[in-house]
Amino acid sequence: MNGLQILGTGRALPAHVVTNHDLAQRVDTNDEWIVSRTGIRERRFSQKETLTELAVTSARLAMERAGVTSQDIGLCITATVSPDYITPSQACLVHQQLQLPEDCPAFDLSAGCTGFLYAMETAAAMLPRMNRPYALLIGGELLSRIVDMDDRSTCILFGDGAGAAVVKTSEHANWYSLLGTRGNQEALWAPGPGNSPAYLHMNGQEVFQFALETVPAMARTLLEKAGLSKDDVDWYVPHQANHRIVASVAKRLKVPLEKFYENIERYGNTSAGTIPIALDEMAEQGLFQPGQWVMCLGFGAGLTWGGALFQWQEKKEKES
Ligand code: ACO
Repeated sequence: MNGLQILGTGRALPAHVVTNHDLAQRVDTNDEWIVSRTGIRERRFSQKETLTELAVTSARLAMERAGVTSQDIGLCITATVSPDYITPSQACLVHQQLQLPEDCPAFDLSAGCTGFLYAMETAAAMLPRMNRPYALLIGGELLSRIVDMDDRSTCILFGDGAGAAVVKTSEHANWYSLLGTRGNQEALWAPGPGNSPAYLHMNGQEVFQFALETVPAMARTLLEKAGLSKDDVDWYVPHQANHRIVASVAKRLKVPLEKFYENIERYGNTSAGTIPIALDEMAEQGLFQPGQWVMCLGFGAGLTWGGALFQWQEKKEKES
């Protein structure tokens, strides 16, 4: 079975930083409450950047680092629930800006915060049937556009940003993955155009509970599939929704929290953006060594969950 190899990553965050103190000017909240309940200190809200701009910037970086050009891309997927347009898709706007080839299909994928993991799985299945060797995968959101800034239970949690990866399939890639869905409209939802109320709504405790039910179980299943133990994994890259969820997952798995990468403090929850943004930060910091095992763990609206356990591979100078 084909696995994926990640050849290059990129990220783009809006310039405007919004601190907890800034939000406390608008809603009845405070820095202490937000930090202790979520781990978030600040997030980025777009003032003028579009999602297309963030997606294209992160994609260009990923392509540059992978050493590939637009002409090498055979598949383009954008995971998002907050695209610039309902149609054409976000991926089509990226396709246009990057002048991707016409035989490169481009489409959006909606799986909430698990979107990037769904995109990776889709690429693993589709890419061998495409005409060109690489897929461009983007996860990104402008959630500030669908969050009610007067609702203190949601406006403190979310942020804007995008991350991207260029991947190829490889028979030699050690890659194990898992996706799941528990259809549930009430836990976390945002209405379509014309429907109201227009904002994102969430039952925080239900989502919290869902994450703790599914994420540790998913991690164990992935380890079983790979024949590995929890200690064989060098890095856990969880969806950044809440530090308390990450800490609880680490505790349930009996894995030191230091093995879980976290940046929620700086960006909040960027939904489909959190995992590619984290991967890019980690790659930039040189945290990945060839041969290391990495486990990405996502969950979100849908309700959906997804995980990928893979061995980091050295990128050959000239990929073919
Ligand atoms: N500041 C101050 N007080 C607040 C705030 C705030 N920003 N928000 C809520 N409160 C109050 C509530 O009104 C409530 O007050 P009351 O007791 O007087 O009624 C009190 O704090 C406790 O509220 P809870 O909702 O019980 O707080 P909880 O400890 O559950 O924390 C939170 C809320 C942070 C949302 C938590 O439930 C959570 O993180 N859930 C998971 C959410 C999540 O991960 N969402 C995204 C995942 S899916 C995805 O990524 C798309």
